[in-house]
Amino acid sequence: MSHTSSQPAPATFAPSGPLTGTVRVPGDKSISHRSLMLSALAVGESRVTGLLEGEDVMSTAAAMRAMGAVIIPPDGGGLSPDAGIGGGHAGQGGAGPDRLWTIHGVGVGGLLQPQTALDMGNSGTSTRLLMGLVASHAITATFIGDASLSKRPMGRVIDPLSLMGATFSPAPGGRLPLTMSGIVPAVPLSYRLPVASAQVKSAILLAGLNTPGITEVIEPVPTRDHSERMLRGFGADLSVEVEADGTRIIRLMGEAELKPQTIDVPGDPSSAAFPVVAALITPGSEVRVTNVGMNPTRAGIFNVLVAMGADLTFENEREVGGEPVADIVARHSVLTGIDVPPEVAPSMIDEYPIFFVAAAMAQGVTHAHGLDELRVKESDRLAIMAGGLARLGVHLDEREDAISITGSGGEPLAGGNGEVMIHAELDHRIAMSFAIAGLNTRGGLTIDDMSPVATSFPTFQAMLRDLAG
Ligand code: S3P
Repeated sequence: MSHTSSQPAPATFAPSGPLTGTVRVPGDKSISHRSLMLSALAVGESRVTGLLEGEDVMSTAAAMRAMGAVIIPPDGGGLSPDAGIGGGHAGQGGAGPDRLWTIHGVGVGGLLQPQTALDMGNSGTSTRLLMGLVASHAITATFIGDASLSKRPMGRVIDPLSLMGATFSPAPGGRLPLTMSGIVPAVPLSYRLPVASAQVKSAILLAGLNTPGITEVIEPVPTRDHSERMLRGFGADLSVEVEADGTRIIRLMGEAELKPQTIDVPGDPSSAAFPVVAALITPGSEVRVTNVGMNPTRAGIFNVLVAMGADLTFENEREVGGEPVADIVARHSVLTGIDVPPEVAPSMIDEYPIFFVAAAMAQGVTHAHGLDELRVKESDRLAIMAGGLARLGVHLDEREDAISITGSGGEPLAGGNGEVMIHAELDHRIAMSFAIAGLNTRGGLTIDDMSPVATSFPTFQAMLRDLAG
């Protein structure tokens, strides 16, 4: 399942003129994971279109199959719970909005003991959310992952799930490989999130589905609310109270019964950010990205870019699958440096790498604060972005949880004949961010390995080729 099993795929990115055209980005990764998990827990047949057929979501599909769900890809694949889905590059050829996935769930409380370790590949979301599901089932599961995932902290979910009664044997430092045993009945919990993390929130709520009584998550800083929206959509009894200071209190009544749904997954704003920023910083460009999820808990990047002077228009605003959606038109713009405060971070947490590229091309200085979480993503994104941009001649100041970037004022960045080599560190968003930067260097840069891009955006390079026309 993991791209580490494939050969590294180096690629050079160099200026290629204006980017023009219309693109549709793959389905939202967060919503795709949740649609498979909740469908796998509903009694009956759910139908999902627009699913992101990237490696991370396929890790979730394989794990849910290993625990008893029947997940049938658009091109068949048999009804057996462990039907294969095409190995390490599943879905790269067939992504598309009309592809129908069919899921037969086992019912809340019905997950089966997996017979082998659950391979999470590169996916932190799969790992943390599935740990929540296992926590309130009487099963023991072992989670393994690639080198990047095996460095990421799991203590943030181990702590609350332990309070609910689950037991854990992680590798040192609370990391993968990790074996855990769930418990029935689990103990309902009221938990105040110590980190702004939708993954931690979702893990607790998913554990709460099969826990008698009310499971409560107190969220001082709002994070993406796809779990809440979708749990409600599947018929769970879930309420959200917002206090005067913005704190959200989410209450879920267990033991829940989920009803099968038909879900259309909107395009991923985190993926849309790449063609949008590419158009903004590449002279002469105009790009339309259709069907982009505009959930306010995810749209921070677009608001910040507009505040920097970006020529973005949001058209055809509508609702898809219980989520706001729009088409975004991005035109080359003169961007001006900005101060991005910490409270914005959760709504653009995955977009900072490409945002730093936009800042590197702006006029003046951009400051961004509250970035400690960037250090524990698929890589230490603050360090890797700062290091790579510095090698492209960008003046910046990296601090523990902040960065200041002095933009080039629209001048191309350094780099030349592809001889600047960027190491993507198994991080899809680092690879894609430097690919876009490469289009705005003097002579190009080389990325050591583009294969991680298959985790979230398998069609990324094809999209760039189309836009460069
Ligand atoms: C995600 C939440 C975010 C994000 C990740 C996906 C989710 O992580 O970075 O890519 O689907 O819940 P945190 O909640 O840990 O910040």
